[in-house]
Amino acid sequence: IKRDARFAELTPEHVAYFRSLLGSESAVLDGVTNPDDASVADDIEPYNSDWMRKYRGHTRLVLRPSTTEEVSKILKYCNDNMLAVVPQGGNTGLVGGSVPVFDEIVINVSRMNRILDFDAVSGILVVEAGVILEVADQYLAERGHIFPLDLGAKGSCHVGGNVSTNAGGLRLLRYGSLHGTVLGLEAVLADGTVVDDLCRLRKNNTGYDLKQLFIGAEGTLGIVTKVSIQCPQRPAAQNVAFFGLESFEAAQQAFREAKGQLGEILSAFELMDETSQSLVQRVTGNKRPLEGRHPFYCLVETSGSNAEHDAEKLSTFLESVLESGIVADGTLADNETQVRALWAWREGIPEALGHLGGTYKYDVSIPLSDLYKLVEDTKARIAEAGLLDETAEDKNDTTERPPVRAVVGYGHMGDANLHLNVSTRRFDPRVEQVLEPFVYEWIAERQGSISAEHGLGLMKKKYIGYSRNPTMVGLMKSIKNSFDPNGILNPYKYL
Ligand code: FAD
Ligand code: MLT
Ligand code: ZN
Repeated sequence: IKRDARFAELTPEHVAYFRSLLGSESAVLDGVTNPDDASVADDIEPYNSDWMRKYRGHTRLVLRPSTTEEVSKILKYCNDNMLAVVPQGGNTGLVGGSVPVFDEIVINVSRMNRILDFDAVSGILVVEAGVILEVADQYLAERGHIFPLDLGAKGSCHVGGNVSTNAGGLRLLRYGSLHGTVLGLEAVLADGTVVDDLCRLRKNNTGYDLKQLFIGAEGTLGIVTKVSIQCPQRPAAQNVAFFGLESFEAAQQAFREAKGQLGEILSAFELMDETSQSLVQRVTGNKRPLEGRHPFYCLVETSGSNAEHDAEKLSTFLESVLESGIVADGTLADNETQVRALWAWREGIPEALGHLGGTYKYDVSIPLSDLYKLVEDTKARIAEAGLLDETAEDKNDTTERPPVRAVVGYGHMGDANLHLNVSTRRFDPRVEQVLEPFVYEWIAERQGSISAEHGLGLMKKKYIGYSRNPTMVGLMKSIKNSFDPNGILNPYKYL
């Protein structure tokens, strides 16, 4: 792709305007007026590169507003002057959506981090977009409530970023998607208009539900500045079982049994293959939860109001699936430390892969029966192309090996959402060529979704047609044009 020539180049005059607006030193990181200042360049660098180190932008200006009014004035000025922008939250996105492609201005909302209101009777929380997910959850924990979303990046991602990506996470099975739990939001459009839909009502059928458009819009329709969200009572008890299985068939049977036997207390059902677990072990050095090795593992979590009762139900469930031969081996966590330790084997996968080199990530929805076949077919294809070498290299071995170290599958099995990850020693265009559009074609043949929860960003922009028909893409484009006619918001991505 080429830089869009309609967008203006930044000048010191533009920067002077932003300085006069935002005042404080730390609110404007300016590499425009001082192009040779190495320390400014170092400060800007983290805003240009994504979590996976796969995408790199070239911004020379980062703005960090602290109020909706400032966001509004920034956007109005950018729109009037044809300056392109990238909204940025915690920068943990996995599709290259949160960093610039060229020299777009980064508008990072991390200073908008106030918790505004919480009603303990209704469970409705109102926060600014830059509140870190884990901070919101801790605040709620102190008040007997829980954030209805949890994911491995909770220590850095923002509530506004979660809403903008419509993140799914580890407990969607229990609490549903943000399309249901977000009750209202405030957002600023490209021309500076503030859309105040910070509704705190469970039910509101007065006209089109416009806030839904911002949920999952990845910063292409406006900048989300505030969110109100329905938060459930925090469950008094959380129990976890971790088990090993001999086939994906067995994992499906275990899922059916879990729904049947655990019913209303089931809160997560996650899948991990052996390769993913051995890579986590390689990176962390931790002792595996089970003695033997199995092709698949499942993590089952229950959340309920009575610890003893839930523990009993979960252990009866484990006994029954062991007895019937569905599960080959299993273990239960009966205190918080053990619960966390078991979760680490699932939540730690993306980070472990990140340590090992470059990862090609595919986040897909497929009818459950075919879920794991994608991993097998992809691995076969990579091996056939001569790009796979699963040898665990030691530090002193300097042999140049084929780029792919492992083809890994894990994910939110309870939501039929697979994460296919191809772990490489280094990013390599040959690998990408073998994978794309192969993976997307494979998904389209099965009427799956090429983006289950991570979004489109830069990575999947050109593949949207595999999961959405031309009529729908046309409607999306007309929505984009009416919200952002100059196209300044997160250009080159999404559509
Ligand atoms: P960013 O990465 O900063 O931005 C993401 C997108 O949203 C970008 O397009 C950006 O332009 C836009 N954006 C950000 N803030 C705003 C705003 N205020 N207004 C408008 N647009 C905005 N995702 C899941 O769905 N489920 C998971 O289980 C999951 N686990 C993860 C685990 C790890 C270790 C990591 C690194 C990521 C994971 N993700 C997961 C990816 C997920 O999308 C993000 O973690 C999170 O939702 C993004 O929030 P963020 O604040 O970091 O947003
Ligand atoms: C996860 O479920 O761990 C996340 O979506 C991140 C990833 O896919 O790597
Ligand atoms: Zn996920």
